[in-house]
Amino acid sequence: MWIWRALILLQLVNGVLGWGKEGHFAICKIAEGYLTEDALAAVKELLPDSAEGDLANVCSWADEVRFHMRWSSPLHYVDTPDFMCNYKYCRDCHDSVGRKNRCVTGAIYNYTMQLKSGYQDSISVEKYNLTEALMFLSHFIGDVHQPLHVGFIGDEGGNTITVRWYRRKTNLHHVWDTMIIDSALKTYYDSDIAVMIQSIQRNITDGWSNDVSSWENCANNQTVCPNGYAHSIQFPLHCCVDSSG
Ligand SMILES: *[C@@H]1O[C@H](CO)[C@@H](O)[C@H](O)[C@H]1NC(C)=O
Ligand SMILES: *[C@@H]1O[C@H](CO)[C@@H](O)[C@H](O)[C@H]1NC(C)=O
Ligand SMILES: *[C@@H]1O[C@H](CO)[C@@H](O)[C@H](O)[C@H]1NC(C)=O
Ligand SMILES: *[C@@H]1O[C@H](CO)[C@@H](O)[C@H](O)[C@H]1NC(C)=O
Ligand SMILES: [Zn+2]
Repeated sequence: MWIWRALILLQLVNGVLGWGKEGHFAICKIAEGYLTEDALAAVKELLPDSAEGDLANVCSWADEVRFHMRWSSPLHYVDTPDFMCNYKYCRDCHDSVGRKNRCVTGAIYNYTMQLKSGYQDSISVEKYNLTEALMFLSHFIGDVHQPLHVGFIGDEGGNTITVRWYRRKTNLHHVWDTMIIDSALKTYYDSDIAVMIQSIQRNITDGWSNDVSSWENCANNQTVCPNGYAHSIQFPLHCCVDSSG
């Protein structure tokens, strides 16, 4: 009996996480290639031992801790009212009891601010755990780009929509997090994540190279612009956001 419960629980747990482990690993592995020498040095300085010198190894840490750091759970997504296809920071960035800024875009502002201030004064270094800030930030930047992490409240970002993926019954959120990637890995990349990453990197240098500068820089000299990631249509930034999140 208990084993079924454990299995069901695992399924549920799986369903609400962000991109699966492979997705977050690939995202961070690719991102590392775009760090400047200084940024890479700063990242290495902050990495915990468990990372073994590679940011990609700790990019799923935020999912692993979300059940004992329960407060961090709402920081993985931002949902809009049902059938509203226009994400708005002020309206949407809150948790289920209405606390402001407790969503993925709010968290991206928060951890960016912590890391930035950590390099401006030593007080911040004591005030914040910048190792955690780095691990949260690199995870949430991945999550905000998963379309169903900016979904509808009513279906919990696709978690309550049952679908079939090939022969398996699952939910729409999980298909996006994990199953598309798993199937692609098996079908096209011989189940080798390194080969898939290389293929994406090749596409970035070939077809998508014009987009790279827009990934590296935000408009108006902002350090980070998560609203743009959450919304495919650009809308006036700043609404009620102050950059301290
Ligand atoms: C900002 O980071 C701190 C430290 O991890 C955390 O306690 C707080 O809940 C975060 N707030 C948001 C909106 O992410
Ligand atoms: C910072 O966070 C990491 C990961 O949770 C933890 O291992 C480390 O002990 C923390 N550092 C401090 C100074 O609390
Ligand atoms: C790379 O681009 C090609 C051509 O557009 C596409 O067929 C392929 O699926 C892309 N690979 C990845 C990993 O996105
Ligand atoms: C961006 O910042 C640079 C350096 O601080 C400044 O010279 C420039 O005018 C700023 N541009 C805008 C659009 O604010
Ligand atoms: Zn997540």
